[in-house]
Amino acid sequence: MHSDFDSVLISRERIEARISELAARLDADYGDKNPLFICILKGSVFFFTDLLKALTIPAEIDFMAVSSYGDGDTTSGYVKIIKDLGRPIAGRHVVIVEDLIDTGTTLSHLCELLKTRDPASLRLCTLMDKPERRLVDVTVDYCGFQIPDEFVVGYGLDYAERYRNLPEVYILSRKVYEK
Ligand code: IMP
Ligand code: MG
Repeated sequence: MHSDFDSVLISRERIEARISELAARLDADYGDKNPLFICILKGSVFFFTDLLKALTIPAEIDFMAVSSYGDGDTTSGYVKIIKDLGRPIAGRHVVIVEDLIDTGTTLSHLCELLKTRDPASLRLCTLMDKPERRLVDVTVDYCGFQIPDEFVVGYGLDYAERYRNLPEVYILSRKVYEK
């Protein structure tokens, strides 16, 4: 393993297996609703495409980019829209697909904003959740993995834009961000 990483936290096999389970639940919950899945760029892009391919129901997709983080690993406590959705969501059954919920700041701001656009329903699906780090309450409807308070990279997640294209989730060594 590369010396930037302490260990593999979630292997390819576990990611795949968990995505099948989440997709089965989403299939059952949204069968007749033509849901709109929103990919929160860039971190959730790999999770999003794998999850969407695992669904068997009709679904539409859109993309949004928001930022509450700079180049490092600490939250700045607000959310900035970098790229907005392409179409209105009024009357739609919307599922936000996120990579990781940490303090909850990003997602709570984003949910408040999207609710003002009158979706028929709004739910949240995340690959990972760090419940120990939560500062703002958010309801996570579909969660892949609850993980410990470690900084993770890979499968879409970055540290200063690096490591996103790794196929599994790794724990980043502290020596990378404490130097
Ligand atoms: P929150 O607003 O504190 O919940 O932060 C959420 C966002 O911060 C996530 O969607 C990630 O993009 C990023 N983030 C939080 N923890 C990590 C991590 O361990 N690795 C990479 N990105 C992270
Ligand atoms: Mg994110």
